[in-house]
Amino acid sequence: MYNFSPMKKPDYLRRIMEINRISLSEVDSTNNYAAKLLLEGKVPHGTVISALHQYQGRGQRSNTWESTPGQNLTASWVLHLDHSNFEKIVALNKAISLAIRNSIAHYLPKSIVKIKWPNDIFVNEKKVSGTLIETQMHADKTATLICGIGVNVHQTKFQSAKATSLFQENPNLDIALDDLMENIHQNIALYFNEWNSGNSTKIEQEYLSQLLGMNERRSFEHQGNVIEGVIIGVDEWGRLKLEAKDGILLFQAGDIVWQ
Ligand code: BTN
Repeated sequence: MYNFSPMKKPDYLRRIMEINRISLSEVDSTNNYAAKLLLEGKVPHGTVISALHQYQGRGQRSNTWESTPGQNLTASWVLHLDHSNFEKIVALNKAISLAIRNSIAHYLPKSIVKIKWPNDIFVNEKKVSGTLIETQMHADKTATLICGIGVNVHQTKFQSAKATSLFQENPNLDIALDDLMENIHQNIALYFNEWNSGNSTKIEQEYLSQLLGMNERRSFEHQGNVIEGVIIGVDEWGRLKLEAKDGILLFQAGDIVWQ
């Protein structure tokens, strides 16, 4: 490892994202590990920290992320940005969802693989992958993303009936966790470059084309009430756009729960 300074390497974003791997046998959370490394100031762009066993995996909205040791991918990618523009970071979140979605579709070419807003990956309406993106804004107006990705690969027993794994969807699959990680890395690099070249419109369109429930009527729970509406998109701030009977409603991630 070397001391990484975004200011000293202005061209790093234009190059192929090299993989810099840190493989751990166990850790509390790969996102926490990445955050600690960043405090020490030595994490190259594209670093991937993976662990066979995460004993305090974290999910969105302070949930825990349970994963049977050795069976699934639990890994965090560190991405350095040369700005901290919120709208662009929202577009990058969508690009990362597409990268993961395409990797899963690569292994399950016959399945319907969709992005459930904001960034879960669903196969046949069951969750196969979750992402926890933590953004650090720096005083020099640059930013760093820690993209923590969990993919259920070999696990067959889940607490939730709405969870699945690649193996459950296709028992003929024998996926090495490292191969999946490299596939995701390549797709993240691809979409990161696309995003970095300013092609946000293409990313937005592709994200909507892969969005679960797009143009369909769906029900959500919001502050104890059931809200029904047609999903008509996700705006540039990452809010879900619902056409409900009283007009167009916008929701932040975490404000509503899918039913
Ligand atoms: C969610 O769906 O709630 C997000 C789950 C994110 C899980 C991954 S596993 C690797 C990384 N480390 C963590 O502690 N969480 C993320």
